[in-house]
Amino acid sequence: MSRSSLIFKGIAILSLLTVLDILFFGVLMHRKNDVPVCSADDVYHSVVDYIQKNGKSNLEDSLPDICRKPSIDVKIKENLDAAIKNIIQECEKERRTPKVFITYPIVALFSTWASTNDTVKAEIHKNTLRNWASLKPKIQPILFTNDSKEVALANEYGWHTLPIIHEGSGAPVLKTMFKTVIEKYSGSVLYGYANSDILFTDDLVSTLEAVVTYYNDSTPVLVTGRRTNVPNITQEVADSFDNLRAAARDRGELFSTNAEDLFFTNKYFPWSGIIDVVVGRLAYDNWLIAHTRCKLKIDIVDTTDSLLAVHQTTTAGGNWEGFKHPKSKHNYALLQKLKIKVKFENGFTSCAQMASLRNFCGRTVIMKRDSWPADCACV
Ligand SMILES: *[C@@H]1O[C@H](CO)[C@@H](O)[C@H](O)[C@H]1NC(C)=O
Ligand SMILES: *[C@@H]1O[C@H](CO)[C@@H](O)[C@H](O)[C@H]1NC(C)=O
Ligand SMILES: *[C@@H]1O[C@H](CO)[C@@H](O)[C@H](O)[C@H]1NC(C)=O
Ligand SMILES: *[C@@H]1O[C@H](CO)[C@@H](O)[C@H](O)[C@H]1NC(C)=O
Repeated sequence: MSRSSLIFKGIAILSLLTVLDILFFGVLMHRKNDVPVCSADDVYHSVVDYIQKNGKSNLEDSLPDICRKPSIDVKIKENLDAAIKNIIQECEKERRTPKVFITYPIVALFSTWASTNDTVKAEIHKNTLRNWASLKPKIQPILFTNDSKEVALANEYGWHTLPIIHEGSGAPVLKTMFKTVIEKYSGSVLYGYANSDILFTDDLVSTLEAVVTYYNDSTPVLVTGRRTNVPNITQEVADSFDNLRAAARDRGELFSTNAEDLFFTNKYFPWSGIIDVVVGRLAYDNWLIAHTRCKLKIDIVDTTDSLLAVHQTTTAGGNWEGFKHPKSKHNYALLQKLKIKVKFENGFTSCAQMASLRNFCGRTVIMKRDSWPADCACV
């Protein structure tokens, strides 16, 4: 459980964490400078043991000696028991709540890349082709390209392809791709774009199911999240969700809140009013989030806590060459031409009003955040 989840008002979750904190804090009070300190691990192990025994043990007995205070406040055990009961009740309530009916594919998910003779990049694209295809038929992957070789390759992996009909400085315009898939895939529930080097696991589906459950009317929404940079992704890693999770955990690095590599919306998002920013060049991501949140007043959902987005990190440039491309400033120039002023900090993932997380009942849910960094204040 990441500490960032503490910012949520998750009733059951927060109450258990609070109890753990009280317990943890309580035992730390016992610390003396020269004796071994009771670690957080010790406390968590003991609490897990207590929960696994279904409360039929003495909480105090399950703590190692170094963690034991002269006596645990009887209140702590009561609070812990109450928090656990609360979770059980919440899970029961959740189980009984009628589910929103979801049809599949839940998302028409597209990407685009420039064809390349670089063998490393070609391997990355193949990893992406296989990875996204493995989530069919829950999702439908689509590649925007005009290159017949890429079309053939994508089709071989079960992807659909569409031509690039709108460009700026040689890179595809984001809004036009969205409008095209919304029109062509009217049966899909959501529409998404992700960079060509992003790999997912099946938590993509559970996270999007949570989005659809929460936004179950015609309220527009924009979903994004942070990526996890993982170097040296081999085919063996790319082809297994478990391997991807392990690689991300062992050698991945959660990338900064100012880089957004994935966007999902429903069909109610007003794409027509979005300016012609292009993908693969700087600044379009932060502008889109800032504009949506501050000007359109539409919810942004940050999926970082429930959705693993593995970025296949290499030393070479990524999708459409990013900042290394000579036309990297295309989007800045467009904003300047349209006299649009942007405070890019308004478009960081940490500014999202909403976030997804997996709760104790094992379900991914959408929750309101109750605090943001000061820089998120809209200008
Ligand atoms: C790849 O190599 C071929 C043959 O050398 C060349 O014709 C083509 O333009 C190259 N493609 C790219 C994208 O560099
Ligand atoms: C891609 O192909 C479509 C039609 O198939 C065409 O309209 C469009 O201009 C092409 N785009 C580029 C960038 O060549
Ligand atoms: C529909 O969404 C609202 C919040 O937007 C939520 O409170 C409600 O539980 C949802 N309905 C279902 C059936 O999940
Ligand atoms: C990735 O692989 C290269 C060689 O293929 C190696 O030099 C490098 O140390 C590896 N990086 C990591 C983080 O494993």
